[in-house]
Amino acid sequence: MTLEINSSLANVLPSVQEFLRNDKQLFIDGQWVDAAAGETFVTYDPATGQPLTSVARAGAEDVDRAVASGRRAFDGEWSLWTPAMRQRLLFRIGEAIYEHAEELAQLEALDNGKSAGVAQAVDMVWTAELFEYYAGWATKIEGRTVPVSVPWAPGASWHAYTTREPVGVCGAIIPWNFPLLMAAFKVPAALACGNVVVLKPAEQTPLTALRLAEIMADAGLPAGVFSVLTGFGDTGAAIAAHDDVDKVAFTGSTEVGKLIVDAAKGNLKKVSLELGGKSPQVVYADADLEAAIAGTASGFLFNHGQACTAGSRLLVEDRIFDEFTQGVAEVARNSKIGPGMDPTSDIGPLVSEEQLNRVTGYINQGLADGATALSGGRRHGEVGYYVEPTLLVDVEASFSVYREEIFGPVAVATPFNIDEGVQAAANDTPFGLAASVWSRDISKAHRTARAIKAGTVWINCHNAFDAALPFGGYKQSGWGRELGEGAIDSYTQTKAVNVLL
Ligand code: NAI
Ligand code: MG
Repeated sequence: MTLEINSSLANVLPSVQEFLRNDKQLFIDGQWVDAAAGETFVTYDPATGQPLTSVARAGAEDVDRAVASGRRAFDGEWSLWTPAMRQRLLFRIGEAIYEHAEELAQLEALDNGKSAGVAQAVDMVWTAELFEYYAGWATKIEGRTVPVSVPWAPGASWHAYTTREPVGVCGAIIPWNFPLLMAAFKVPAALACGNVVVLKPAEQTPLTALRLAEIMADAGLPAGVFSVLTGFGDTGAAIAAHDDVDKVAFTGSTEVGKLIVDAAKGNLKKVSLELGGKSPQVVYADADLEAAIAGTASGFLFNHGQACTAGSRLLVEDRIFDEFTQGVAEVARNSKIGPGMDPTSDIGPLVSEEQLNRVTGYINQGLADGATALSGGRRHGEVGYYVEPTLLVDVEASFSVYREEIFGPVAVATPFNIDEGVQAAANDTPFGLAASVWSRDISKAHRTARAIKAGTVWINCHNAFDAALPFGGYKQSGWGRELGEGAIDSYTQTKAVNVLL
């Protein structure tokens, strides 16, 4: 298929232009192959709505092929690799991602709409770090010796120990908001533990996962250990339901997370889920207001609000509510809207027309319900999927803008009274992914962190992640933890061996 070259490609690196020139295939068993049914789809640049390239669309037969090749590797060559060999491979991949960071960031910016500069400084650096962090873990996954006293054998002597073994063939199904980074939340931890991975990137953003497969193959990845199946929800569903997949790790909507749980029950595969959020940012009157205004604005505007941890509910102490929300609205109004390839842009396009309609639909519903937009409130321009950064006040807890994940540059702000406390409002959500607390009173900040039911609480910052810090949700924000040592638990199973001496 020949596509008209998108005019916005003029400023991109020659290596990116070269990558986009050819139609993209699936990566299965160390080979680039067409989908068995020959199907393809087109991926678009959301800054222009123009096509970027054509990509193979994996069906159930391709899922079977990738899973079978994964199983062969898992039972065969990969099982013979020592921890130090896995460590070296993952480290080499991390180094290669650093070397290709600019190219990967441009590809991400074109496919997703995000800022290329931010993608290079944040997404790619962190992706590389995750490969290197889990490279380190590969040689440090240890069992324990356990003193036992088996009751039916008084006087006997025992030697009992545990080992941590890989789970097996892992499916990874990821979203479009941080395409390569979400792959890196799963792939390096899984491989460090000795698993194999079948990765299904989101249909909106398939490109960096394919480039990652090239980088991994160049670094010495054995065939079958890592496959990339580009496709839609049906491809993900086939992975989640597959009887020879031992675990599925999913990041995406809570709605699809529940479908994954249903699909997984056939063979009771292990499931880990990172789902939606409606994260509160609690601002006390004693906060450093200047820092809190800038920090909370970025807390909901980062990645144009397309972040599962977006701080989309500002809960502000009533004494400072007007001053504070005016300050945040001003930051929002002063944000420059433009394409991700323009380094001066603050707010890029949403990933797709569907997402544009979803986000403007929420804003319109909020305004119809009686909310007031202190900033924004509309689509920006006619070309590309841009939405003005929007801060809504006069919002009731029953409004959909208050309750549901919007996934765009939109926050609601509501006041709270210090005597009534903020705990009930902060926890008035089915989600529990993240929260932030802004205060100079260290005890109050820690007490508030303790009271909030969320997997991550930041104090005087928002979206401050680290490879070593566990990440995941309370309530309907998910099952299990990624990152840190928690991911090692989720990609291994424990075997107990008890020896009668
Ligand atoms: P989604 O949850 O439908 O898509 C995420 C991934 O799941 C994609 O790779 C998709 O192809 C795959 N998928 C879709 N249906 C599937 C199925 N039945 N079985 C297995 N895999 C399936 O998210 P979507 O539709 O792109 O976005 C909808 C909303 O979801 C967003 O507006 C946002 O609120 C939320 N979302 C949350 C994310 C997060 O990081 N928590 C990421 C993406 C979306
Ligand atoms: Mg969907």
